[in-house]
Amino acid sequence: MNSNFPNYAERMDNLNASAIREILKLAAGGNIISFAGGLPSPESFPLEDIKKAIDIVMKEEGPQALQYCSTEGHPGLREKLLKRMAEHNGIKGQTMDNIILVNGSQQGLDLAGKIFLNKGDVVFVEEPTYLAAINAFKAYQATVIGVPTDEDGIIPEELEKMLKKYPNAKLLYVIPDFQNPTGKTMTYERRKGLIEVVNKYPIVVLEDNPYGELRYTGEMVPSIKTLDTMDKVVYMCTFSKVLAPGFRLGWMTGKKEIITKIAVAKQATDLQSGTFAQHVCNKYLELFDLDAHIKEVMEIYGHRRAVMLDALKKEMPEGVSWVVPEGGLFLWLQLPEGIDAGEALKECIKNGVAYVPGAPFYASEETAKVNTARFNFSFVDDDTLRKGVKACADTLKTFLK
Ligand SMILES: Cc1ncc(COP(=O)(O)O)c(C=O)c1O
Repeated sequence: MNSNFPNYAERMDNLNASAIREILKLAAGGNIISFAGGLPSPESFPLEDIKKAIDIVMKEEGPQALQYCSTEGHPGLREKLLKRMAEHNGIKGQTMDNIILVNGSQQGLDLAGKIFLNKGDVVFVEEPTYLAAINAFKAYQATVIGVPTDEDGIIPEELEKMLKKYPNAKLLYVIPDFQNPTGKTMTYERRKGLIEVVNKYPIVVLEDNPYGELRYTGEMVPSIKTLDTMDKVVYMCTFSKVLAPGFRLGWMTGKKEIITKIAVAKQATDLQSGTFAQHVCNKYLELFDLDAHIKEVMEIYGHRRAVMLDALKKEMPEGVSWVVPEGGLFLWLQLPEGIDAGEALKECIKNGVAYVPGAPFYASEETAKVNTARFNFSFVDDDTLRKGVKACADTLKTFLK
């Protein structure tokens, strides 16, 4: 047998398992308090209501729910989502031709990569951004480049400079609300500025909004899609953070022609998203009040956010600062210069707590800030949150000595 067996595709070259992931795997087994994931709290799942929805689906539409369906997905569910986006997000004028159900927004990222990216194509992302989006684009051998951001989000002037340098960049990927990992929200002015810039170039905007409905303070900011006069924005959303990620159900909304291409690509990937999950979600929306449920979820998370912020204030040594997010699931910490959050993580794990260091969220190693970290506050209860923050703070104090 030839020595280079198995002979993998070139596209896998940039997708090595990260060192951080390996460290966190070690942490997953023991009695480690984890702030590392982005998992919804299991207490937030409406188990009884979902059970009722499943029973009714099986009774009333069992054969259809167990059958193949169209690639675009359950028409009733898509109609409800169009209505919801119009009422909640101000995304109006979209029809059934403008929406497709996908297996979570993560699949949306992959399919966008599949239909738009050739080897070497440029994708702009916020600096830093969602790690699994960087990997989704890199899987298509794209060149992923970070655009500078500040506390108000992406800086349109910087974006324009980069578009002048790479006028044929294919995609701009943004998470305007309670961004992963920073928790920041892009201001309205910045969203307008972004659209004005992208409208001058042949670039598609992927607006990813998994956290937008989880706002604990402040006022909602209209989505970029609502400002999209030239139909350049593909808006992605998901049931993962507001209902349950186990459904693996999200959706993409945009220009008909783009959605049709996504459907063609999805046929090759998996034919369609799971019919059963679509029927159950549709029935859940028919029978129950998702907004009331989201309100309950927000009470849990809003409280946990406050507990973590309070614990950080009480425990963290001088020189550690953080972004106070108005929503979402994450806090973004800045450690004093010279401290590598990856090295600190190894010691924190010995002391029973884990988080994700910030560096892998940057598009390139050169621009990565190693003294940053992402803390999740949705998954564990109050006492555990306090204990974990204290253990982490005590560990960092030894680093600062
Ligand atoms: C910004 C962002 N986009 C997409 C996803 C993937 O979500 P889904 O479960 O819908 O695939 C996540 C999950 O954490 C996320 O944080």
